[in-house]
Amino acid sequence: MTEDRAQDHRRRAADERQLICDVQGVSKRFDMRGKSLEILRGVDLQIRAGDLCSIVGQSGVGKSTLMHILGTLDRPASGKVSYFGEDVFALPEAELAAFRNRRLGFVFQFHHLLPELTAEENAALPLMIARTPRARALDRARALLTEVGLGARLHHRPGELSGGEQQRVAIARALIGEPSIVLADEPTGNLDVATSDEIHELILKMNERLGVSFVIVTHNPSLASMMTRRLVMRDGKVYE
Ligand SMILES: Nc1ncnc2c1ncn2[C@@H]1O[C@H](COP(=O)(O)OP(=O)(O)OP(=O)(O)O)[C@@H](O)[C@H]1O
Ligand SMILES: [Mg+2]
Repeated sequence: MTEDRAQDHRRRAADERQLICDVQGVSKRFDMRGKSLEILRGVDLQIRAGDLCSIVGQSGVGKSTLMHILGTLDRPASGKVSYFGEDVFALPEAELAAFRNRRLGFVFQFHHLLPELTAEENAALPLMIARTPRARALDRARALLTEVGLGARLHHRPGELSGGEQQRVAIARALIGEPSIVLADEPTGNLDVATSDEIHELILKMNERLGVSFVIVTHNPSLASMMTRRLVMRDGKVYE
């Protein structure tokens, strides 16, 4: 990024309700054995700083497909995804990967923690990938894990943690790089009601404390009702 662009970036970051993500006319098809499935048919969506969005919709409607595109993990067939005014799919692959690591956080239904790493190492991973010195990354991970209520589980491996605890580690990992948006695909899809409620409270608390936006795909009506924006996917489009 040039100095001018970096400065522009910082100036915009000062505006609390800045436009973070702008999705325009995004479509996506999957070609399977000669048959083409049109899953996204012109999705338009804007996400601003601090937004709490839920996305609901029937199974197979394309929620995860859209989340992968928002997360820059998959490319649209047509349309544009801009973050901070920049068309991210026009970036070279290495820059796109750096952008993703620096600006986006991910939480999935199955936490995808690395089984051989401890809670603090898992949470610190995005910083280590961004070449933050190990000691500093681990310090930050411990502080964040303490904040999500896992101060007494720092050295446990995922297999030694409960499902809710594993998801807390995943949330700490998603937040550690101070991302602009956390993308969560059914983060409590796998948890009992009481544990889900705790995770929901944690998401609200982190949104309030850090100002980070959340986009959350959920089948859970109690979680959807807590969000400030409720989006519905139908027929390949997103409705507010
Ligand atoms: N890589 C792929 N190749 C072919 N088809 C795919 C691929 N990924 C998704 N699909 C198809 O696209 C459709 C949307 O899938 P997606 O996973 O986005 O749905 P979803 O809304 O997340 O559903 P759920 O609520 O069950 O998670 C499905 O019909 C699925 O079979
Ligand atoms: Mg899905």
